[in-house]
Amino acid sequence: MGAAIPASSVVTTALQGDVLVVTIDNPPVNALGAAVRQGLLAAMQQAQADAAVAAVLLVGAGKAFIAGADIREFGKPPVAPILPEVCRAIENLNKPVVAVLHGAALGGGLEVALSAHYRLALPAATLGLPEVNLGLLPGSGGTQRAPRLMGVQAATTLMLSGQPLKAQAALQAGLVDKLVEGTDPLAAGLAYLRELLAANAPVRRTRDLAIAEPQAALAWLDEQKAETAKKSRGLFSPLKIIECVHAALQLPFDEGMARERALFMECLDSPQRAGLIHAFFAEREVVKVPEAQAAQPRPVASIAVIGGGTMGAGIAVAALDAGLPVTMIERDAESIARGRANVEKVYNALVAKGRMTEAAQAAVMARYTGSTDYADIAQVDLVIEAVFEDIEVKKAVFRELDRVCKPGAVLATNTSYLDIDAIAAATGRPQDVIGLHFFSPANIMKLLEIVVPAKVAPDVVATAFELAKKLKKVPVRAGVCDGFIGNRILAVYKQAADYLLEDGASPYEIDAAVRGFGFAMGPFQVTDLAGGDIGWATRKRRAATRDPKARYVEIADRICERGWFGQKTGRGFYLYPDGARTGQPDPEVLAIVDAERAKKGVTPRSFSADEIMRRYMAAMVNEGANVVHEGIALRPLDVDVTFVAGYGFPRHRGGPMKWADMTGLDKVLADIEAFAKEDPLFWKLSPLLVQLVRAGRNFDSLNQAEKS
Ligand code: 3HC
Ligand code: NAI
Repeated sequence: MGAAIPASSVVTTALQGDVLVVTIDNPPVNALGAAVRQGLLAAMQQAQADAAVAAVLLVGAGKAFIAGADIREFGKPPVAPILPEVCRAIENLNKPVVAVLHGAALGGGLEVALSAHYRLALPAATLGLPEVNLGLLPGSGGTQRAPRLMGVQAATTLMLSGQPLKAQAALQAGLVDKLVEGTDPLAAGLAYLRELLAANAPVRRTRDLAIAEPQAALAWLDEQKAETAKKSRGLFSPLKIIECVHAALQLPFDEGMARERALFMECLDSPQRAGLIHAFFAEREVVKVPEAQAAQPRPVASIAVIGGGTMGAGIAVAALDAGLPVTMIERDAESIARGRANVEKVYNALVAKGRMTEAAQAAVMARYTGSTDYADIAQVDLVIEAVFEDIEVKKAVFRELDRVCKPGAVLATNTSYLDIDAIAAATGRPQDVIGLHFFSPANIMKLLEIVVPAKVAPDVVATAFELAKKLKKVPVRAGVCDGFIGNRILAVYKQAADYLLEDGASPYEIDAAVRGFGFAMGPFQVTDLAGGDIGWATRKRRAATRDPKARYVEIADRICERGWFGQKTGRGFYLYPDGARTGQPDPEVLAIVDAERAKKGVTPRSFSADEIMRRYMAAMVNEGANVVHEGIALRPLDVDVTFVAGYGFPRHRGGPMKWADMTGLDKVLADIEAFAKEDPLFWKLSPLLVQLVRAGRNFDSLNQAEKS
């Protein structure tokens, strides 16, 4: 070991008899920042040097053992000692080291524990190697030590899934040696160490263990490689994890460690790591909105949903799943029966798949009530309206809610586009009216836009954020405008896709380019899935107010006029023979596209995937900048979270605004200027984009400014 390192405030040591208790105390989650790494190394040097120390106990203060490396340090110059060095010092100590795990033991935190000689868990511990979620791989011996302890298959699955194990499962997997009841890690750890010392338990290094059944493991890993290449769809780190496990199987420990380090550094340098870590912090930052910080939420113990269609039923399920009682109001007995059936259908499917027992289904449904009588919701704390997208129907519902609901009840609308200020004005209590824009299917999709009208009270906004937490949603604060954050931006880049279509790219080329970028689906596949009739109805509704000079592509209308609404009708932009869910290209659609181009006098030209994406993304980013500029989104990161959580934007790119930062705002701006020469009405530069480029700043500088 090198020179002595001074003791730190985040790692303290105390001698309890002959046991050196090393406490990691770096709130909130004991992340392994430089000071913690220095402190741990110093503690190991102390333990080595002090003859009075017979053994070492590693324990985390607060709610976690150690939640991993300090994610904020990634991308900055490394500070010594690096974590693999700390882990080596722990493992090399010639006195028994025990790690006691009572909360999160994740990533580098678990790697510290794997370097200890014994591991004790309390029931609330969670053990995982979630680095893959951040575009990384376990970089401090996790890829080499976990297979030695739990076998190649279990270790690889742990690392590729990124999902943590609970204490009991970790015990069964061989990741911990013992599980004891209790909530006091120090007392439990000391008791365990006493047992070990009494039994003369030896120093036991994970590095010295042999991997079980190496030949079978190698064959399994080869299969896994092909499988992972298919499943991880362009993600960088999963295949690198497999390479590390290969190294664990085929190389001596130290060489395996060197290989792991090299591959970890490759991941660290990848743009995917930057995108995924941006997404991690953005999802935590997005709840920090002025109203939620200034006001206390109102209590919500019961919910009413008005309308039991697609959205109402999904919202009811989300609330039931969160343990809330739900009353659903519908128009008549027939509709309420249909609403109930819509809710039951979700649970029936879970029961059929064996993911829920009939008893559990009965217990959940006991909290559900259907009614046609508004008097039944007079006492509920929060109402979510999800009736037809028609302002008059919605206003009538809100007048009724104003009449029956108790004072202080929160009245929310799930409208996609309508003016929530106007809906609020239909009541005598606009301070209680807010938008809660769920996404379909509402019990599954993570995004919840919390739409804040002018007169809403701050504690109602705080209540909405609190509800989102209860429903396990990712909430984003949005201002009132046509389409809020997500649908407003979607409308613009969908238009860019329509222009590409009319100018020469086929719907199949556009979808393939968008998938190649990392989206799960392209825009024309999405239209077919959602039903072409929905967009068609909106276009017809807006026809009267459309700028007659603006370019309008009629291709989708021609397709809808034939009754081709997508999957549900067996054809749309694609063919779905015999109820197929994956579409096939349709020559008749291409003929329609050709005819429409000819009608407009367009000579089709070809577009590469790169050109398609430059236009698609430029449209998205430019409108995203407008949304931030107008205060509809608080910060660029709110746009990013909206798209990652609700629109299938590839998480590893961080979101559209992060993508723009990484691409270079000057490049995006230059593209828009070039496109504007063809169509100045559509390609209007966002003033915010121009300002930022002039000032040499990026979108993230606005995120950081909001923080400070
Ligand atoms: N580094 C830095 N900050 C972290 C952090 C980490 N590893 N983990 C959490 N935080 C921060 C969060 O940003 C948040 O900060 P804020 O209050 O300022 O917004 C705060 O800690 C609390 O986090 P959560 O809101 O997420 O708290 P929860 O109680 O809901 O969850 C958790 C706790 C399960 C530990 C969750 O935070 C989590 O999953 N953290 C990330 C764990 C992880 O990915 N670890 C691996 C890191 S990579 C690594 O270790 C590389 C190694 O192999 C070399
Ligand atoms: P839907 O047509 O499936 O359901 C609407 C339900 O409301 C029907 O069951 C109808 O009987 C009921 N209803 C109509 N008037 C009523 C009244 N006066 N009182 C009680 N019930 C009444 O519609 P969907 O798709 O569920 O949409 C509902 C709302 O959610 C709309 O505002 C829509 O814009 C919005 N939304 C829809 C999304 C989607 O993907 N479908 C996504 C996000 C929001």
